[in-house]
Amino acid sequence: MKRLTTILIALFISLSFLSAQSIVPRPESMTPRKGTFRLAGAAVKCDPAMDAASIDAVKRFSARVSLLSGKSASVSTPIGLGQAVSQGSAKGLIFLCDNSLQKEEYILDISSSMALVKAASLNGFLYALQTLKQLLPASVYGTKAGSGEKFNLPCCLIEDKPRFEYRGMHLDCSRHFWSVREIKRYLDVMAMFKLNRFHWHLTDDQGWRLEINSYPLLTQKGAYREGTMIGKDFSSNDGIRYGGSYSQQEVREVVQYAASLGIEVIPEIDLPGHMLAALSAYPYLGCSGGPYQAWTKWGVSPQVLCVGKESTFEFLEAVLSEVCELFPGEYIHIGGDECPKEEWEKCPDCQARIAALGLSDKNGYSAEQYLQNYVTARIQTFLASKGKKIIGWDEILEGELAPGATVMSWRGTAGAKQAAAKGFDVIMTPNSHFYFDYCQSRDSASEPLCIGGYVGLETVYSFDPFEGIAPEAQGRIKGVQANLWTEYISEESHLEYMLLPRMLALSEIQWCAPQNLDYARFLSDLESHEEKVLETAGYNYRKK
Ligand code: ACM
Ligand code: ZN
Repeated sequence: MKRLTTILIALFISLSFLSAQSIVPRPESMTPRKGTFRLAGAAVKCDPAMDAASIDAVKRFSARVSLLSGKSASVSTPIGLGQAVSQGSAKGLIFLCDNSLQKEEYILDISSSMALVKAASLNGFLYALQTLKQLLPASVYGTKAGSGEKFNLPCCLIEDKPRFEYRGMHLDCSRHFWSVREIKRYLDVMAMFKLNRFHWHLTDDQGWRLEINSYPLLTQKGAYREGTMIGKDFSSNDGIRYGGSYSQQEVREVVQYAASLGIEVIPEIDLPGHMLAALSAYPYLGCSGGPYQAWTKWGVSPQVLCVGKESTFEFLEAVLSEVCELFPGEYIHIGGDECPKEEWEKCPDCQARIAALGLSDKNGYSAEQYLQNYVTARIQTFLASKGKKIIGWDEILEGELAPGATVMSWRGTAGAKQAAAKGFDVIMTPNSHFYFDYCQSRDSASEPLCIGGYVGLETVYSFDPFEGIAPEAQGRIKGVQANLWTEYISEESHLEYMLLPRMLALSEIQWCAPQNLDYARFLSDLESHEEKVLETAGYNYRKK
């Protein structure tokens, strides 16, 4: 009887804990305990072995809790902290380095006298802090200072780490331009749900957004288009000059801000197609020599870089050298998608390059497709000389692809299956599940403007990254990403509506072990998150 009572009490505590504490993405394991830890006013202590960025993250968190609660707390780095913890004499909110943990793993061990956080790296500490925030009352996401809130944490043990190392979210800043402030808000919400890669689509036919010192006209001219089509009417033009770009100083600011949130920024310079805005600035880079104008409508321009001329490679190497200086991460995305080949078929320089390389139609691919392979390989070699790896859309697989490239599978998962089988690293981003410009309802007329198709919340959640991937190739699937193309999105509130709450479903596919994925449980967690996190932090999102 006593045992049954104990089991029932444990079950009750666990059920009330689980219903009160919904954490997205769901941690790998959570064990509830009795009691609470009062955070407001508690001493905050960091292991002196922690790196400066991790200590800064703790200080930011602590300053926020102090400001909101009105109870100040100092952050100290006392010698012998680890020993005090193992002897049971430590009290307060304590952060310890634990190098036995994986890079992004963390442990939260909360009792009524001590909330202990263990991690091995900045990202581990950041994710522990995000989980702590989700365990606190909603006001931790707000701005009301001096509220007297106690900020009680429920006692529990959480052991957590991600399923995939690459957890990405993309943003198209060419079709519509997003300010640094808007990008920081986007990064903030990514960080709340433990995403760690921001894929920044900086160039396209409709506008070049990245300042390049050696080619200043790219932004002075190529960042502007003479109007924009209205709604979905391809024959229309609103007649309003549209544009914008990021200075290199602003780019550094975004990269640094993202890094403080544990997010690596992956810039995309889409080549050799999607280059009309660049051609408008430097017409000699095209096959016909122009003149060209940045596109005012959506869709793909037939005008592409002329890859028969060496001057095009001088241009690309100069641009990418500046890109490598600006972005310290391991990857540069070189696009490679939707490159029409008609100009190359007609161009004497491109045809001369094909002849010199001895390329011909074979194995179902045209000589011009092999010419694109040549461009990809040449750029890959150049970037490798600067210590960078390339990512490309799945078109880069057509023909021949040199080892070491990472393939982003967007046209469904066929590219992923082929790439993984051939030994390439893969990022899953199929349009069937992760194109957040697609509509969130089957009745698109009832939705704000969306490109078409249907990617509902349950569509996102239903994705299995290993489906159809042979067991021996599954290790090649490095992660999952969603893409937000902005042809039909020009306002921040609309952008957030398309992002949220689908990004929360994405975060579970990226983070959670398969046994922890459960759509019904996720929907119930989401309900409290919408109210608590998104509403309080002021994000717009799609309500049911
Ligand atoms: C793409 O959607 N063109 C990658
Ligand atoms: Zn050409």
